[in-house]
Amino acid sequence: MLLLVLGTAAGGGIPQWNCACPGCAGARAHLHRRRRHASLAARAGEGRWYIVNATPDIADQIEDRPELHPGPGPRQTPLAGVILTDAELDHTLGIARLREADRLQVLATTPVRQALRDRLRLGDVLAPYTDVTWRELPGHGSEPLDPAAPGLQISAVPVSGKRPRYAADAPDDEAWVVALRLYDPASSTSVLYAPALAAWPDRLQQAAAEADCVLVDGTFWDDEEPRRTGISSRTATGMGHLPIDGPGGTAERLAPLSARCLYTHLNNTNPLVDPAAPQHKRLARLGIEVAYDGMVIEP
Ligand code: MLT
Ligand code: MN
Ligand code: ZN
Repeated sequence: MLLLVLGTAAGGGIPQWNCACPGCAGARAHLHRRRRHASLAARAGEGRWYIVNATPDIADQIEDRPELHPGPGPRQTPLAGVILTDAELDHTLGIARLREADRLQVLATTPVRQALRDRLRLGDVLAPYTDVTWRELPGHGSEPLDPAAPGLQISAVPVSGKRPRYAADAPDDEAWVVALRLYDPASSTSVLYAPALAAWPDRLQQAAAEADCVLVDGTFWDDEEPRRTGISSRTATGMGHLPIDGPGGTAERLAPLSARCLYTHLNNTNPLVDPAAPQHKRLARLGIEVAYDGMVIEP
């Protein structure tokens, strides 16, 4: 299996256009501290790639990686489809940026597809530009990711019913947010990608215990971070993101796992956005990594 980390920031990116916090200021001063919105590319076969979550940065993220560049035909692209873990704007706005495609395949769970079609009206808006095919992301059992390049198996683990703010009144459903599981039968390796964790249900614990590599929501270091930094009146948990540190935090879930564990979807207020922050050593002692843009993962 071959994965490319296309971005590792939470909504807004780092730096965020209207933010003067130390994390954003640091990223303006030091280019290497910049992080694009959290996204992953998975290689399904020779010249065939799926991008997990379509961020506002998606076209730049494609330009960043030669593997994702078009050619040799004038409009021939290795992008075979987009997989969504949720309907949040930072993970879906990029779909509209792909409207130049001849056709576009989008894999999503039912509530996510309905939010994009009925609330964002992406189906109607994009129909005059490109042919969007919506494919159901299997919540139970796995199926081949790419019919044209059999190999990787895909499935989703329902994580929480956290809805985007634009769909706050939409019906409850356990599959609003899922963790994505990719399994490569050739190497018997599996990866779990969960950039939005409002909860840690038992089935996620089970999937994490079986995985060889786990990439999870590292939005906030601790529960008080959003209030302390003045970006919100809510705690991290209240904003739908389990913090890394503290009781009930994700670090204590990850530390005992045998999988390689990495954080992604870092908010600009997270001390981890500073490479010199002591929190990096805390994680390293637990055997946990922080993903970075441009990282290549071969589980
Ligand atoms: C989230 O991760 O909670 C959302 O993406 C927040 C947002 O960008 O609106
Ligand atoms: Mn987000
Ligand atoms: Zn900031």
